[in-house]
Amino acid sequence: MTQAGLEKAQERARTLRKEIEDHNYRYHVLDQPLIDDHEFDRLMRELQELEKKYPQLWDEDSPTNRVGGEPLEAFEPLEHKVPMLGLDNAFNREDLFEFDNRVRRLSGLDTLEYLCELKFDGLAVSLQYENGTFVRGATRGDGYTGEDITQNLRTIRQIPLQLPEPLTLEIRGEVYINREAFRQLNRQREEQGLMLFANPRNAAAGSLRQLDPRLAAARPLRIFFYGLGEHNLALETQAEVLGYLEKMRLPVNPNYNVSRGPEEIWQYCQVWQDKKDELPYETDGIVIKVNSLQRQKELGTTARSPRWAIAYKYPPEEKTTRVKDILVNVGRTGAITPVAILEPVGLSGSVVQRASLHNEDFIKEKEVKIGDTVVIHKAGEIIPEVLRVLKDERTGEEKEFTMPRSCPSCGTETTRLSGEAALRCLNPKCPAQLVEKLVHFASRRAMDIDGLGPAIAEMLYNEGLAGDVGDLFYLKEEQIAGLERMAEKSAANLVGAIEKSKERPLRRLLFALGISFVGEKAARLLAEKFGDLEILQDAEENDLTEIPEIGPKIAQAVLGFFRNPETKPVIDKLKLAGVNFKEPAAEVSSQVAGPDLSGITFVFSGTLEDYTRDRAAALVEERGGKVSSSVSRNTDYLVAGDEPGSKLEKARSLGVEVLDQSRFEELLGLG
Ligand code: IVH
Repeated sequence: MTQAGLEKAQERARTLRKEIEDHNYRYHVLDQPLIDDHEFDRLMRELQELEKKYPQLWDEDSPTNRVGGEPLEAFEPLEHKVPMLGLDNAFNREDLFEFDNRVRRLSGLDTLEYLCELKFDGLAVSLQYENGTFVRGATRGDGYTGEDITQNLRTIRQIPLQLPEPLTLEIRGEVYINREAFRQLNRQREEQGLMLFANPRNAAAGSLRQLDPRLAAARPLRIFFYGLGEHNLALETQAEVLGYLEKMRLPVNPNYNVSRGPEEIWQYCQVWQDKKDELPYETDGIVIKVNSLQRQKELGTTARSPRWAIAYKYPPEEKTTRVKDILVNVGRTGAITPVAILEPVGLSGSVVQRASLHNEDFIKEKEVKIGDTVVIHKAGEIIPEVLRVLKDERTGEEKEFTMPRSCPSCGTETTRLSGEAALRCLNPKCPAQLVEKLVHFASRRAMDIDGLGPAIAEMLYNEGLAGDVGDLFYLKEEQIAGLERMAEKSAANLVGAIEKSKERPLRRLLFALGISFVGEKAARLLAEKFGDLEILQDAEENDLTEIPEIGPKIAQAVLGFFRNPETKPVIDKLKLAGVNFKEPAAEVSSQVAGPDLSGITFVFSGTLEDYTRDRAAALVEERGGKVSSSVSRNTDYLVAGDEPGSKLEKARSLGVEVLDQSRFEELLGLG
């Protein structure tokens, strides 16, 4: 190879890289491509070939290297030079006026300018550029330390690997997924028998946390930048910050606006509250920031959030639709649940077509009839629920619904047991129940068998391949591959996932078996006390009720389960297949050290680095503390791990003290 040849190649590579990044910017950021995909691919290929021919040209920041590197074992912690704080919340006009009052009082001014922008419902990230090169990026984590997700961020085409100027600075933004891309992703996952994401935000979170950057690259991640971390730029206002970011070719959402005073802020909020569904991505409110950076600095921050900003949160969405029909579903315990089939309607980012009506009493209380117009919302932001019937809309054509006298799956007469709201099918061989049992067994919090969702479970059952959970462990790849819409690869994956699930601790197996009233907590207590399924199997009632939290109801259910002649063959199959029956010994002895936490309530949110949720809960409970699943005024501490979500925001808005892992350990006397 001649020196001249190499120089020419170098020159060509430089030109190609610049051209490719320009096209990337035009396509992914400006949405104004100059060339078509075909031509773009041609440029990429030329560069790849050149880099292959001349390995000297290798450059980490070449556009050919966006998706590179080996899968990681775990994410490394990365400290934020400037903490990534949260925001206080405003829920109405008064809250916004109060915010403006407070800011004016603290800064001693009559009027102030505010920058209003959309609050994107994704995940906050921080990116560092050194001399114009993207070097590192992290999740928010607990606000002080996040996880190094550089490899995954590099796969986002909207993020330039090089800035047009050699700047050293930290920029902040929100990674998200467009609604349509989210739906497509879920459709794809459904076909592959993978777990579906509940919403675009979860999909974005799951994607950013892929240890293998090739997997992250396949996800439609996008980003909006909205602020700076550490920097030494001479800028005066938040609006200038956004303008500057745009100039640096970074994606900035164009819908921001400078407001003078709270009335204009409120107008902006109203406008976007009405228009938010027209956007291709989800927003959950408006962020309002004091525009002057100097004033921001003077106002400063509290431990949790800046005094110069607030988030206006949209009220939970409600929609009106019509109940086309009411059908019933048979659950794994035989409970028969009525489900409203709705005229499809868009609600908080997804199209809703069904809503559970829970049971007979619920239908009576809400007076729901087939044909009714109803108001629905999403409970806990995920599950659609009927709030009320609009009786004025009735035409007289509506039909009363009555619960079926026989099970829709097997025809057995249905029974309402005393003291229960649910109507049940008591036939232990009912096909619908058996399928649901398989689904529950495989679910994430149970045996966590990836790829075994409702569609596959039903096929396995219908084809006679799995009549009970014990049969799952004898499935052969060929048998599964023969099922409709099942690729060979997925069959191998499923067999692998089943095999892997054999190692789950006893607590998970017990929960997975679906014994009535034995939820995750009871399963854990039983597993910890008995340590082995074969010992638990022979336990007497008083052995069980020795555990303070296990009352006669649970004890009876456990005894009933193991005495049921149907159970033994299943347990035998599990045992023969080598499924683990043991609970690993607890790490902490029963002699609990540390403080007495009686009367103190904890809520956990997000992932802690060194403890599973169960383990952390056990540590609190061992010390007499209580663990609750949702944040309220009675919560004493929220323990926030990585990606803590809405509970953290709620805790902040209620002034609940937030602990990170190390402060949690301190409080419990661990360490
Ligand atoms: S500013 C100190 N601007 O909301 C300022 N945040 O509760 C903090 N978010 O973690 C952030 N859109 O994930 C800001 N336009 C926006 C935002 C935004 C979404 C998120 C961000 C942050 C959370 C604050």
